[in-house]
Amino acid sequence: MQDQNKEKQHPPATPSPINLQRRIKQKVWPHAWPWFAVCKPGVEDICLSELAGLEIENLDPQPGGVGFEGGLEDAYAANMWLRTSSRVLLRVNDFRVRRWDDLVRQASRTTWEYFLQPEGAFTIQVSLTDSNLKHTGQIADVMAQGITRRFKELGLAPPLPARPDQSSSQVIMVRGVDRRCTFSLDSSGDNLHKRGYRLASGKAPLREDLAAALLWISGYSGDVPLIDPMCGSGTLAIEAALIARGLPPCLDREFAMHSWPCHREAAYGHLKKTFEANALDRAPARIMASDNQAPALKFARDNAERAGVGADIEIGQQDFFQLTPPDEPGVLVANPPYGKRIGSVRQGERFIQKMGAHLRNNFPGWRVGVVLYQTEWAKYLGLRNTVRTTVPHGGVKVTLLAGEVPA
Ligand SMILES: C[S@@+](CC[C@H](N)C(=O)[O-])C[C@H]1O[C@@H](n2cnc3c(N)ncnc32)[C@H](O)[C@@H]1O
Repeated sequence: MQDQNKEKQHPPATPSPINLQRRIKQKVWPHAWPWFAVCKPGVEDICLSELAGLEIENLDPQPGGVGFEGGLEDAYAANMWLRTSSRVLLRVNDFRVRRWDDLVRQASRTTWEYFLQPEGAFTIQVSLTDSNLKHTGQIADVMAQGITRRFKELGLAPPLPARPDQSSSQVIMVRGVDRRCTFSLDSSGDNLHKRGYRLASGKAPLREDLAAALLWISGYSGDVPLIDPMCGSGTLAIEAALIARGLPPCLDREFAMHSWPCHREAAYGHLKKTFEANALDRAPARIMASDNQAPALKFARDNAERAGVGADIEIGQQDFFQLTPPDEPGVLVANPPYGKRIGSVRQGERFIQKMGAHLRNNFPGWRVGVVLYQTEWAKYLGLRNTVRTTVPHGGVKVTLLAGEVPA
């Protein structure tokens, strides 16, 4: 951002592409930039703790995400490591808007050349809340013109708005709130909850970021046994295995920032190798996944193999109400069948009642984490020392609840 202000005072001379590389080394690599890790409303605290665990600084939790400051390495780490974030944005410009001209000026003063590939494709998304800017279509046009002007002034071939049939492009977000406007660049590309392992799933799979959030509030860190007795396509058990082994969920993913002109392949490669070297070869405690439907188990096995944790998870067909736990207490996590997507709401409620009774009779002393369709169903489980958060999921609000089964 400081860099941005300097640019405002001294419009750059026309550099050759070689100069661009030098400028990137001087003006991008050594500096801390403002980023924003987007997450589901309700899991901001978990996302914040994950960022703190990466020793990233100046954390600023806000509804729907956490702001932070850092270099490119921090953004690579956030993209690879954050289990509860859906994308990481670079706040490339933030300014006060008094009149339309402010937008026009900033559109061509922003240092796009560090982040947009010459001749690459971009998509502009505009969102306005009580903004003094109006007309999203015109805003997108002004942005595209500003970017073109900037590149031409620098002697670079400008990137172009993506054609409707172009699947992959750099997303630029323009957000106007009251009299402020922010330009952000998506550094992630595909949503980070799409780890890449879940190609097969049943009727109501749990989003990977929410599975990780449930494991987090359940206090799971990998050193005690874990059971998911309604595993479906295996999301909770796979996320648990990744946690237990200390494997980043998006270790092998390609990110949008890989195609930025300022991308540091060596720094990224070093970070990836460090994460790989620090990961355990096997989960230190048992991870068990079962379901009463055989087809779901095939999905779970295939997904676990693709995630590279096939050997860490014991998968078998089993009715939950016949399941007895191993001797050593651990963590049970479940995304039970619930109304709207599977069966009726009344059936979902009866299932939780029955589940509470089975937990009390067979799992005393276990920590339990459950996805609940109705928050008041928590009373049927009778857990102690509970923590909970409510999050949007698949068009409804679900409660992630964790607590202990009374001993
Ligand atoms: C909402 S889905 C779980 C989805 C899973 N978390 C995923 O990400 O794919 C609920 C699962 O519970 C299973 N199920 C329902 N009743 C069960 C029972 N009595 N015992 C074991 N599994 C059961 C269903 O077969 C279904 O796969």
